[in-house]
Amino acid sequence: MSSTLTFLSVIWYQLTFNPKPPPPEIKAEGETAIVTGSNVGLGFEAAKQLASRGLARLILAVRDISKGEVAKAAISRENPKCQIEVWQLDQDSWDSMSAFARKAQSLDRLDILLLNAGMKRLEYTRSPAGHETHIQVNHLSTALLSLLLLAPLRKTAAITGKPSRMTITASILAFIAAVDGITHPKAEIIPTLDDPVSFKPGVDRYCLSKLLNILWTRELAKHVDAKELVINMCNPGWCMSEFHREDPGAAAAGKYLGWSSEQGAHLLVDAALQHPESHGEYLSEQRVRSVSGFVLSAQGQVAQKRIWDETLALLREVVGQDHPIIRSDRLFL
Ligand SMILES: NC(=O)c1ccc[n+]([C@@H]2O[C@H](COP(=O)([O-])OP(=O)(O)OC[C@H]3O[C@@H](n4cnc5c(N)ncnc54)[C@H](OP(=O)(O)O)[C@@H]3O)[C@@H](O)[C@H]2O)c1
Repeated sequence: MSSTLTFLSVIWYQLTFNPKPPPPEIKAEGETAIVTGSNVGLGFEAAKQLASRGLARLILAVRDISKGEVAKAAISRENPKCQIEVWQLDQDSWDSMSAFARKAQSLDRLDILLLNAGMKRLEYTRSPAGHETHIQVNHLSTALLSLLLLAPLRKTAAITGKPSRMTITASILAFIAAVDGITHPKAEIIPTLDDPVSFKPGVDRYCLSKLLNILWTRELAKHVDAKELVINMCNPGWCMSEFHREDPGAAAAGKYLGWSSEQGAHLLVDAALQHPESHGEYLSEQRVRSVSGFVLSAQGQVAQKRIWDETLALLREVVGQDHPIIRSDRLFL
């Protein structure tokens, strides 16, 4: 689909599709869920909606504990039976992510993981963790958490006898990403994207980081048995949240086209609780949809494998080949 067609389809669905909560009989009774980026926006609304489905325990993974406590109080008021915990998670810090994952290994169960935290900037910035910020927060950190939390998800499947769930918040903007930074046959992808020269001011890098989410998740799903864990991706639509704070154009247009964060969260909760057939798939408008032509192309397949290999090598370097979690986890099939 060309960029124009993608953009027209975004407008069409924003104006005509009405996000709905999953049917009330879809429950998460007694389950434990982690939602990243859950102090505001889509993550907060999704966490609240999951709590209302009967969760026993909800972990709000947030970078600012005091903001997380405010979110916890709001969710608790409506869901007094759900045990809500606020855990610190900064996706700009390798140490924070490692500590978070270490703590998660001690959970008696983890049924649902919603990797939702993300950011958008229009200018180049470098994360304190070392990489261009979208590459760090949206791609590398999401990828690391998706690996480090595999063990508790799998352990839970062995107890419950049904697959645990991992949903990654994607975006249809991945379909319009400029792919030159990830298709050069000779240049390594991540160092190329870290180089400020490769950054075009505007939304391009955000779109590309969401494409990396899709490529990573599709490859990860190949290495995981859907009987143990269903991994999918969800486009929540264009939603009003704090997300567009540095993008006044998107914020202004969103007033006419945007859904509320509550509506967007219906899609995330739908992806996390329903669609058992969606392992490795991309959901949008509450159904499995095709990914972009690029992702399906031979060039996209090569990029997917290269992203996987480079990301894995980088993450192993960062957390250490001997990291207790990586060492002890049966990472892949
Ligand atoms: N809104 C949309 O139109 C839209 C459309 C498609 C996809 N998405 C995706 O939906 C997800 C949620 O977006 P949103 O609309 O809810 O945006 P939001 O209101 O800005 O919330 C983003 C969340 O991510 C957290 N976060 C950002 N950087 C982080 C970091 N370094 N470490 C840990 N947490 C971090 C934020 O924490 P702080 O509050 O501390 O900053 C916040 O909790 C993102 O992945 C985004 O790409 C959004």
